[in-house]
Formats: sequence, C-alpha cells, structure tokens
Amino acid sequence: MSNYHIKHLEEYYQVYRKSVRNPSAFWEEIAEEHFMWRRKWDNVLSWDFSKPEVKWFEGAKLNITENCIDRHLFTRGDKTAIIFEPNSPDEEALHISYKELHERVCKFANVLKNNGIKKGDRVCIYLPMIPELAVSVLACARIGAIHSVVFAGFSANALATRINDCDCKMVITSDGSYRGAKTLDLKSIVDDAVENCPGVDTVLVAKRINSEINMVQDRDQWLQPLLDEASTDCQPEIMDAEDPLFILYTSGSTGTPKGMVHSTAGYMVYTAYTFKNVFQYREPDVYWCTADIGWITGHSYIVYGPLCNGATTVMFEGVPNYPTFSRFWEIVEKHKVNQFYTAPTAIRALAKEGVSHLEKHDLSSLKVLGTVGEPINEEAWHWYDDNVGKKKSPIVDTWWQTETGGIMITPIAFCTPTKPTYATLPFIGVQPTLMDADGNELTGSQVNGNLCIKFPWPSMARTIWGNHQRYKDTYFSAYENQYFTGDGALRDEVGYYRITGRVDDVIIVSGHNLGTAPIEDTINEHPAVAESAIVGFPHEIKGNALYGYITLKDSGEGRIHDNLRKEINQLITDQIGPIAKLEKIQFTQGLPKTRSGKIMRRILRKIAEGDTSNLGDTSTLLNPEVVESIIEGKK
Ligand code: PRX
Repeated sequence: MSNYHIKHLEEYYQVYRKSVRNPSAFWEEIAEEHFMWRRKWDNVLSWDFSKPEVKWFEGAKLNITENCIDRHLFTRGDKTAIIFEPNSPDEEALHISYKELHERVCKFANVLKNNGIKKGDRVCIYLPMIPELAVSVLACARIGAIHSVVFAGFSANALATRINDCDCKMVITSDGSYRGAKTLDLKSIVDDAVENCPGVDTVLVAKRINSEINMVQDRDQWLQPLLDEASTDCQPEIMDAEDPLFILYTSGSTGTPKGMVHSTAGYMVYTAYTFKNVFQYREPDVYWCTADIGWITGHSYIVYGPLCNGATTVMFEGVPNYPTFSRFWEIVEKHKVNQFYTAPTAIRALAKEGVSHLEKHDLSSLKVLGTVGEPINEEAWHWYDDNVGKKKSPIVDTWWQTETGGIMITPIAFCTPTKPTYATLPFIGVQPTLMDADGNELTGSQVNGNLCIKFPWPSMARTIWGNHQRYKDTYFSAYENQYFTGDGALRDEVGYYRITGRVDDVIIVSGHNLGTAPIEDTINEHPAVAESAIVGFPHEIKGNALYGYITLKDSGEGRIHDNLRKEINQLITDQIGPIAKLEKIQFTQGLPKTRSGKIMRRILRKIAEGDTSNLGDTSTLLNPEVVESIIEGKK
C-alpha cells in the first residue's frame, strides 16, 4: 500500500501508527517512492535533542528544483505551474507553465552565477508578490545559494538587520510594488538599508511599477537585460540532504530576529507530503494560498510543496479589499480555485463586509478551505464554513510555525471530521505532548498545557543562523528532550488539539508574529520615553492588537500626548515596519514591577483587555499603587 495519499480516517490512523512506530522506515518509503534523488541516503534519521542535532536522509544528494520543476517537464511541461494574478483586475493574469518556469529559473540562476553567487552564499530577496519572487527563490535553490526572503513590508532598518545577520552578498528587489491603490517605493528602502550593509556588492532590480529610481553605479543592475542575455541551460547544483536551503527570520520574545535555517531533503519531503494530504490536492486542481512568500506559509505552501506535487499554484499580488471586498471571490471564480488557504484575520475582515460580495460570484469550484497563522475564533470559523464553503468544503485549521517548516497539527481534508477552533490531530509522524509548568507530561484528555513535540520530523529547522546556542535555549531547554513550541494547547476527549495561543511574549497581530522586546527597545529610543511595556489585547479583525504602556521622562511631561503617540508610531514604522504599530498608547506614571524589577505583564494584559475584576495578588509588587493609577488612566 502506498502511504503517499491518505484518503480516509481509518487510513490516517493506520499510517499515523506506522509513522510513529518506525519513523525511519516510514519516511524512507515516502522519500524513496515520490522524489528524485541523485544519490540515496546512508541513514534516514539521526537525532539528539540535547545538542540539539537532527539529520534526515544523511548522505543523500539532490536538488529541490529538480523535484519541483525538471521531473515534471516530461509529463506536465505545458501544465500551468504558477498563475500570477496582479494587484489590479485590469491587468491580465499570467499563466506560467512548468516548461516556462524551468526556463525562467535557469536564466535567473545563470544571472546569479554571472554575478558571483556560488553555492552556500546568502542572497536576500526583498520583492513584492510578483513572479520574480518565486523564480528567484527557485533560482537560488538551483545553484545551492541560500535564500533569505524578507517580507517587503519591513522597514529599511529591519531589512538591514536581516541582511547583515547572515551576511548576504546580494539583494534582489524591484523598483516598487503595487498594494491596493498604493504604490510602495521598495528600491529606496533597499538603498537606505544597504547603506549599512557592507557585505552587499550587488542589487538586482526587477521592473514592476516603472518608476524613476536611483541606480547606484557598480552596485545596482536592472534584472531584465541580464535575464535576456542569460542562457536557459543551468545544471542543478547537487546538494547534500542537510545543506541549508533557506533562512527565514522570525521574531523572538527577546533580542534580534532569529534566522531559522531549513535544510533541503527533509523540508522537501515533508512540505510535499503535507501539501498533498492536508489539502487533498488532485490534478488538475488549482490551489491558492493568499499568504506572501515573505512568510513561511508562502515558502512551503505557495512554492515548494505545491510545485513538488506538480500542482497549479496561484500567486496573488494584491490585497483582499482592492478594488473592492469582492477581490478574493473574483479570483476564485476566475481561476476556478479548488483549494483556498488564508488567515483568520482575512476571514474576519471579509466577514465584516457581509455576504453580498460572495453572492456575486460562483464559488462552486471550491473543495477545501484552509486557515493558518493564529487561532480561528468560532464566529469566523462558522462564517467561513457557511458562506464560503457552503458547509460542503472542509476547513483545515493548520497549526504550524516558521520553525516547523510544514503543517504539524491539522485535519486532513475529507478524512478528519472538523471541529470549530480545533486544529484537530497531529499530522503523520508528528508526536505532540502537553507539558505542565513543572516539566511533567500531561497525559489523557481534557488537559491544557504547553505544547511540545517529542520526536523529530523531517522539516524542522536545524538551527538559528550563527547562534546554535540560542536555538538550543529557545526551543530545547524548557523541557528535556522536547521541542517547545511557545504555544499553549488543550487536548479533548478524542485527542483533538486546540491551540490556545502563545505562552511567551510573542504577540500575533493579523497573523504576524511580533516580539515585544524589539518593539519596546524601539520605543525606548524616543528621547521622551523612560520605559515601556507592550501587551496584546483582543481585536475584532486583527485577532490581537498592540497596547503600549509608556512612562515618560521628566522632559517628556508636558508634551502633547497625541503628538508623542504619532512620533512613537512613526519610530516603530521606521525601525520595524507598519505591522508593529501600536493600536493604543497609554502614558503611565510607572509600570507594575516585581521586587526583582520585572514588569508584571500579566496585570498589564488584564487591564488592556478591560478585565480588572481579578488581577490576582498585587501586594507583592514593588509599586502596587501604580496599578490603580493605570486602571484610572485607561478610563
Ligand atoms: O502561535 C501559533 C500561531 O502562529 C505561530 C507561528 O507563527 P509563524 O512562525 O509566523 O508561522 C505562521 C504560519 C505557519 C504559532 O506558534 N499559529 C499558527 N497557525 C495557527 C496558530 N495558532 C492557532 N491555530 C493555528 N492554526
């Protein structure tokens, strides 16, 4: 029996048992039957969470682009690999076949080589959702360069930090981007960033908005003329299974962003296998994930997972509300989308606009709906189920992380009965545990604890770029021999998991992970600010929004608070990006602290949520009187 395509619940349980009883044998079979290898592995898995060190398919040789593109050329050469749907509905969509994708990737890979990029070099990609983004990612993989995609909504400062952290030699960007009715000047952001990046010697610029931009001599080059001259022949670099494929930054609760390093073979096998099963992808389905390739969801489930399965994957440049809130449904109808994968924040924003937009469009092509990025609330779940899926398309609520590389806890469409707000069952090979604060595993049902994973899975990140100790401290030190996710979860009587949210100081705003410490550090740079504390509070559309408690220095007192609020948010926009702006700012006389000087965020969180009925014992605080004044000040 092939275990590659699971079709019903019993089969899921059967395959799951097999995958945990003998993981090596299980993954070996999957890898052997469904992928293209230049050399097979010597050893399927070796691991030691105490180091931590994990290796999958050691000794194997491959190139992931051969799996994503070349092997389909014979059977699917003319099939559409990528449908590019532009920001404006007036611009025509582009259908890129596997053959064309091959040609584009090879040419781009040759441009990289001609500009001195070699295997192992890091290349930063800062592009909007245009075909060049997917193509440049694959071009890096083709020649063994490590891509580091930075979401093109980050500021120059945030971009520079990420470029420098992994020593990128090259940045790939565009003259600008379209985002709804706006155009953004990406190139000048790159210019500002690269001024502080001595390691960057080349900036390649794709033309998208035809704006007049500044080109720096000897550094900047227009991409198109280079592509026009490049050869379409580029033999893939043969990589080791454990060679890094990419770095992707994610926020931590403290410190600089963490460059999660993903390897080649394990990542490929797991993302392809999850894609096929979770979404029940069957040819010639058209699959659409609305995420940006700047996030892990786009890496794994717009590019690598779908292409590895020879799927047709949609890349959308725009936003859900431009020109109207019908845009998503227009696209579903136009391209006859079969699987639609989005985030709860988008669902809530669309739900708020009512069903009239949906009623104008034929959504009968939809078979499977997906959600990712944050817990989905019951109301949004039902709205999605009733109005988009018409109660006939299962919703796969997929829980995973940048660090996990692929989907970890999820229903398998048409196999796993869904339950609103539950991510349901672990995917094949995934062994979750719930732990209490004392390090005991919580067994049985109806338990609530910290979510860990006790056994390696193929697509787990292998390290944090340049800081293995931090990788160990962050993920493998809370509990012995367990990967700690940073999320809380509960398990019900049938073994279904419900993710309850972060248990650390990461706040998820509109599905984006934001660490509180970097934002606080930024705010504290404002000359009028003495100190600050950020907490999350529930927000109707964004899931969570940021609430900042800020204490001013003497010099800041007397300043007009609204002006200060604007300045502080501007500072955050400049240093991090608009996604980290504070929704509410309250100026306070002080912040509640423990006797050891630690800010009591639990209390601040409750006040921000508007729940002051049960603040717990505040008498042990160094400054209990501050709490009353904060509650007063909020009113
Ligand atoms: O808190 C969980 C939440 O998003 C975090 C991971 O964020 P990031 O690395 O940006 O990756 C997002 C896309 C995979 C998790 O620790 N999260 C993600 N998916 C879900 C979720 N929370 C609840 N339900 C989900 N389906």
